[in-house]
Amino acid sequence: MLISIPVGCPFHKISEDFKPFDLSNPFPFYKKSRDEQPVFYSQELGYYVVTRYDDIKAIFSNWKTYTSENAQSSFKPMSPKAKQLMEVQGMIGLSGLSGRIPPDHTRIRRIVSMAFGLGRFKKLEPRIRALAIEMISQFKDDGHAEIIKQLAYDLPALVIFMLLGVPNEDVQQVKSWAESRLLITWGDLDEDQQLIHAQNMVNYWNYCQNLVALRKDTPSDDLPGDLVKLQAEGHEITDKEIAAVCYSQLFAGHETTTSLIGNGIRELLSHPESWQAICEDNTLIPNAIEEILRYSPSIVSWRRKALEDTVVGGVEIPAGSNLLLVMGSANRDETNFPETDTFDITRTNAKEHLSFGYGIHFCLGSPLAKLEFKTVLEEFTRLVPNLRLTQNQDFKFALNTSFRAPVALETEWV
Ligand code: HEM
Repeated sequence: MLISIPVGCPFHKISEDFKPFDLSNPFPFYKKSRDEQPVFYSQELGYYVVTRYDDIKAIFSNWKTYTSENAQSSFKPMSPKAKQLMEVQGMIGLSGLSGRIPPDHTRIRRIVSMAFGLGRFKKLEPRIRALAIEMISQFKDDGHAEIIKQLAYDLPALVIFMLLGVPNEDVQQVKSWAESRLLITWGDLDEDQQLIHAQNMVNYWNYCQNLVALRKDTPSDDLPGDLVKLQAEGHEITDKEIAAVCYSQLFAGHETTTSLIGNGIRELLSHPESWQAICEDNTLIPNAIEEILRYSPSIVSWRRKALEDTVVGGVEIPAGSNLLLVMGSANRDETNFPETDTFDITRTNAKEHLSFGYGIHFCLGSPLAKLEFKTVLEEFTRLVPNLRLTQNQDFKFALNTSFRAPVALETEWV
């Protein structure tokens, strides 16, 4: 017989304490779950929730049993009208990579990796640095700044636009379309709102298809240009698959990186000795970024679906069940990270965090996200070394299951 591991009160269900959409401070609940019931069913979500490091890593590693096909499906079912609009455009089930499975996933990821290597990211570095300097210089003499609005939101979006080769004049339009993706998938919209956002997604999808068509006539030094070139050289990838990869990049690489910058600056300034240390020695920045990703991840949970009857942490999971893998908890699992609630930028195994996933879907853009934040920190510590948090701030976090970052971050300096 299979036994789950609960050690707390046998009549108390931990799921009653679970507040899946409130990410303001989920860490005490995560600890309680790891200690008492590391795998439990949430009635509210209709998901099995998994909170221990080893269980989550094992699930990420086993794509045959746990598919990622549900990773980006809407938590709330789409209204018939919105669904029909997207169906007509061939957008239902559309995924760049993260919702695909082998063999398609393997084939497409291999080709995208060729276009997405360190060479492409390194080429972007001087432009990222120039952008960071320009944005910081705009508020440097004010003595205060709201970091999300004045830096962290726009910078990663502009970098993705560089990667995709979106011209400056299209940036505002594309940005407003792309934001609809988050709202449709993780938000709580009524039918009319769904229809508006579905139309935006259709517009953005058509824009991406057009990006690919343009590269056929005029080669260009950007991601769609590289993928069209690889296709012409005989690599097996269709126009629609290239467009889908471009379509998903903006979402995959924008707000995730905004959150990294927001969480990171907040943690570094909340632990002023860490900020001081990176100001004095920039070589500490890369490991500090890993510790930020461990301690305060941009994405606290990600999804999988069980394809067969299985067992996780002693709990039976029937085929067809949805699972919510709480990486925000795995990263604080004391079996892997001693003194886990201490923010330590010199922690030697910080990089073992699961914030970029693990296994065949491991985040392809992680070097770019880290490069962006490293560049921002190098310039920030140089230009505004006496940066500090504005006192008495009440940090707010958007209501959703997975994306965690302060909505605003007020800072000041003299
Ligand atoms: C701090 C920033 C970021 C975080 C926390 C993050 C996190 C993640 C996570 C959790 C996954 C799913 C992993 C899995 O299912 O096992 C993922 C996949 C992916 N990410 Fe990121 N990401 C970030 C930045 C980026 C950027 C900047 C890009 C692109 C420019 C990007 C592109 C991708 C792609 C293409 C995948 C799908 C890979 C696949 O399925 O094979 N990400 N990322």
